[in-house]
Amino acid sequence: MSNNYEQIKKRRTFAIISHPDAGKTTLTEKFLLYGGAINQAGSVKGKATSKHAVSDWMEIEKQRGISVTSSVLQFNYDDCCINILDTPGHQDFSEDTYRTLMAADSAVMVIDASKGVEAQTRKLFKVCVLRNIPIFTFINKMDRDANDPFDLLDEIEKELGIKTCPINWPIGSGKEFKGVYDRNTNHITTFKAISTGGSKEAASTEVDLKDDSLKAMLGESFHEKLLEDIELLDGASAEFDMEEVSKGKLSPVFFGSALTNFGVENFLQHFLTMTTSPLPRNSSVGKIDPFDEDFSAFVFKIQANMNKAHRDRIAFMRICSGKFEAGMEVLHVQGGKKMKLSQPQQLMAQERKIIDEAYAGDIIGVFDPGIFSIGDTITNSNKKFLFEGIPTFAPEHFARVRQIDTMKRKQFMKGITQIAQEGAIQIFQEFNSGMEEIIVGAVGVLQFDVLKYRLENEYGCDIRMESLPYEHIRWIENENYDMNDLKTISDLKKIKDMKGNPLLLFANVWSIKTLLDRNEGLKLSEFGKNM
Ligand code: G4P
Repeated sequence: MSNNYEQIKKRRTFAIISHPDAGKTTLTEKFLLYGGAINQAGSVKGKATSKHAVSDWMEIEKQRGISVTSSVLQFNYDDCCINILDTPGHQDFSEDTYRTLMAADSAVMVIDASKGVEAQTRKLFKVCVLRNIPIFTFINKMDRDANDPFDLLDEIEKELGIKTCPINWPIGSGKEFKGVYDRNTNHITTFKAISTGGSKEAASTEVDLKDDSLKAMLGESFHEKLLEDIELLDGASAEFDMEEVSKGKLSPVFFGSALTNFGVENFLQHFLTMTTSPLPRNSSVGKIDPFDEDFSAFVFKIQANMNKAHRDRIAFMRICSGKFEAGMEVLHVQGGKKMKLSQPQQLMAQERKIIDEAYAGDIIGVFDPGIFSIGDTITNSNKKFLFEGIPTFAPEHFARVRQIDTMKRKQFMKGITQIAQEGAIQIFQEFNSGMEEIIVGAVGVLQFDVLKYRLENEYGCDIRMESLPYEHIRWIENENYDMNDLKTISDLKKIKDMKGNPLLLFANVWSIKTLLDRNEGLKLSEFGKNM
């Protein structure tokens, strides 16, 4: 259908990733300003306004100054319809970031020029590389004193193991930030900070590299340094290769300043030419083409209680093919049931709005009565298929959780189960006892804080948490294995998952080896049977 074709062709769906405070929110806000989706800076985070903010719905986020949830924003720019998937800015939530990346076709990595790849972000950015999607780097805050740009590129290459190709190049930084040089056009866009009614902006002019006035404009030493840098870059940096970019092996790098809106539009324009419309997705029957007539989507995120006023639960799905129309009947493949998706919605800046239609590449949130799981496939196609699953990360931190008020057993179990279904934590039980105690596994320790906070605030259950000294989890792969046969060792804990499958927790990798040596034929796996 030609109408679908046009709509899908113009979709671009990307995730935005950064260390807290690197400027993700500011950059997103500038994008939205270009798209006309908002008309006031500060609307995204709601810092400048008292309105409820989209990417800041949980008190804990404010307390910690990090974003632990992700949201989706859509805007139009230059004949493209762009979906931005926000991600949590802390590596303790890197599994959540990975799931969000599954729904994206490319990623934008925001780096603070004075900090480079920060310890907390390493894991987060590495997750990005795992997905093999195009990664674009925006090195932000050039209006502040920055690290040497060559060192920054070096760091990205070493830390993340991908090559970099600067598209533009900074001239100075901080108070001496003169502008950027565009390596394609040989033009220099000069930077001059101006203050307009409290907001910071940059004024810029374009000059050709060969322009006689350039030396006077930049000053002799900056001019000389620029010419040196250009020579060095042409000799040393990786050549631009679109093929490598599309495989996520080469990251185009841009320097700019989101706050002063310098280099943002230029970045957006390049980004749109270097990215493609939605790509085919793997499924159990081969690749599903986004331009297929049939609608299909998969769930990549479930989030409960986004709005305290009504305790809702939203399943976010990425549309992989065709067109979604409100009221259409779809098959929830895993549940084996036909259904209508209720209250389909999208986020536009700070508004949630009910939608009538959406296309491949878009993300929609639907009301979830508790039936969806992460990775589920939804389609109206006659061929029954499943999209490729979303891997679960093995938890590395474990804690025993007890509710303080035993009368609140029901709320406690409901809360902890729902939070586990969202994929924020994994829950287990002691091997030889009932459900009195729950053992929680998490990829990052901050997830425990979120769990405690949410159980108290959303489910009214105070809990006591005791951390356990284990770091590795293994499922037993042998069929019908009798745990009593296990020749055990110290530093080992026997547990089971909520389906009763036996599992082992280890304090270190050596104890895993010792156990395997002692128990011939024992097969262990890092991943659960249902994953
Ligand atoms: P995040 O979402 O990645 O956590 O970062 P966010 O955009 O909230 O930016 C973090 C801080 O860095 C903010 O300052 C923001 O104004 C500032 N910032 C972002 N981009 C730039 C830039 O290009 N140059 C400079 N100099 N600063 C930048 P804040 O003081 O924490 O908050 P606010 O009160 O100014 O909003």
